[in-house]
Amino acid sequence: MDNLAQLGAAIAAPPFYLPQGKECELFELAWRQRLPLLLKGPTGCGKTRFVAHMAARLGLPLQTVACHDDLTAADLTGRYLLKGGETVWVDGPLTHAVRVGGICYLDEVVEARKDVTVVLHPLTDDRRLLPLERTGEILEAPPEFMLVVSYNPGYQNILKSLKPSTRQRFVAIELDFPRPELELRVVAAESGLDPERVRPLINLASRVRSLKGLDLEEACSTRLLVYAASLMQAGFDPVLAIEHAIIEPLSDDADVKAGLRELVRASIG
Ligand SMILES: Nc1ncnc2c1ncn2[C@@H]1O[C@H](COP(=O)(O)OP(=O)(O)OP(=O)(O)O)[C@@H](O)[C@H]1O
Ligand SMILES: [Mg+2]
Repeated sequence: MDNLAQLGAAIAAPPFYLPQGKECELFELAWRQRLPLLLKGPTGCGKTRFVAHMAARLGLPLQTVACHDDLTAADLTGRYLLKGGETVWVDGPLTHAVRVGGICYLDEVVEARKDVTVVLHPLTDDRRLLPLERTGEILEAPPEFMLVVSYNPGYQNILKSLKPSTRQRFVAIELDFPRPELELRVVAAESGLDPERVRPLINLASRVRSLKGLDLEEACSTRLLVYAASLMQAGFDPVLAIEHAIIEPLSDDADVKAGLRELVRASIG
């Protein structure tokens, strides 16, 4: 990291993150002990925010990669590209993070192609090595480097789970939606809406999350509550804000949406 970047990282306040437990201490310890970290949790529960917060807090550059089913090892490590008639090697985000000693965050890592594990394995055991097959280099990760991966266990299918030999290379944290009192503070802080006006949204979320009968793929996320509260803070009618920021994003099914509207009436009045 150059001096200017270091200065910038030191000055900028970390993005707001309200801990659910001891995850901040654990993240910092894992980083100090050079252990890779696995985060699990439903969509919109704060995983990305947590990593951004910790990177800023520790003054480390952050490379985030959204993994998808076409993502290959070369997308992470780098490749030769044609530039002005010459072929030049261009580092991928993982290689860059190893070289500069920062955090590389692989979001939805279970989506990535199988060959990605080949580069992750030597990097996530005590060797901490990144072999670059194409250039013949073997990079040793500096002490500051940390690999963080996340996935949502709710979407997992058997074909897309992490192999035990991959999982067992990580320290793991399971995050969930913050408990009601914390979530109220998160939503109020993120939206600027008065906490007393946030409370019915939190009550609604608890009801939706405890519903067993309703056919929802995922429960109402903290992110959606922040959206609804932001619309309300901007002056939008609460019932409409909930309709567009919570009910519509949650389902396409008319019966499910009708069930959710009933809950809204019970929670909001
Ligand atoms: N503990 C928290 N502190 C501060 N903000 C939070 C917290 N939890 C959730 N949020 C809010 O929820 C939003 C969604 O969180 P985030 O994007 O980190 O979710 P995610 O777990 O990464 O979801 P996905 O799996 O869909 O990527 C954030 O933008 C932030 O506003
Ligand atoms: Mg995320």
